[in-house]
Amino acid sequence: MKIVVLNGSPHPKGATADMVNAFKAGAEEAGHEVNVIACAFKNVKGCLGCDYCREHEGTCVQKDDMQEIYPEILSADMVVFASPIYYFTLSAQLQAVIHRTYAIDIPKNVKKTALILSSGDAFVYGPAITQYYQSIVEYWKVENAGIFTANGDQNHSEEKRQQLYRFGAAL
Ligand SMILES: Cc1cc2nc3c(=O)[nH]c(=O)nc-3n(C[C@H](O)[C@H](O)[C@H](O)COP(=O)(O)O)c2cc1C
Repeated sequence: MKIVVLNGSPHPKGATADMVNAFKAGAEEAGHEVNVIACAFKNVKGCLGCDYCREHEGTCVQKDDMQEIYPEILSADMVVFASPIYYFTLSAQLQAVIHRTYAIDIPKNVKKTALILSSGDAFVYGPAITQYYQSIVEYWKVENAGIFTANGDQNHSEEKRQQLYRFGAAL
């Protein structure tokens, strides 16, 4: 399976990346191809809502780093959304990438998705999970393979690494 991880954290050695790395190691151990895209280090502008894509076969009018991300999403069997919680939802960097998939609409090859979230506090995941992630799962008509969260002392913990590794290895 080809797996694309969209990591919205601006911290390459942060808590989100820690879980992503463990997931990647497990999934690769199971023979999957995993490509982690560090969305926060890409030049991805917000969607203009111009509908140019609607008249140009899904081609976005904005020529930025989404041009390299579109083919990755379109060819993926699974997309993993990973983000720190910023004000109760996904980071703006990840949201920008998600909004820009408006051009390609539902990525037809994707069969399953997962969500990885890191936060300071517990019980702050409501908007990210229900308003964002589960809405995408329903809109894309894909299987929700799993939702993983870490807060406080769970961040950078061996327990979370093991959990994410096992999830990746079991795919
Ligand atoms: C702009 C900003 C907003 C944040 N908002 C929240 C929040 O609403 N709830 C929360 O529990 N933590 C919040 N945090 C803390 C981060 O979610 C937390 O530090 C997370 O572990 C960072 O992950 P990272 O190391 O992958 O960047 C916020 C941090 C920043 C910088």
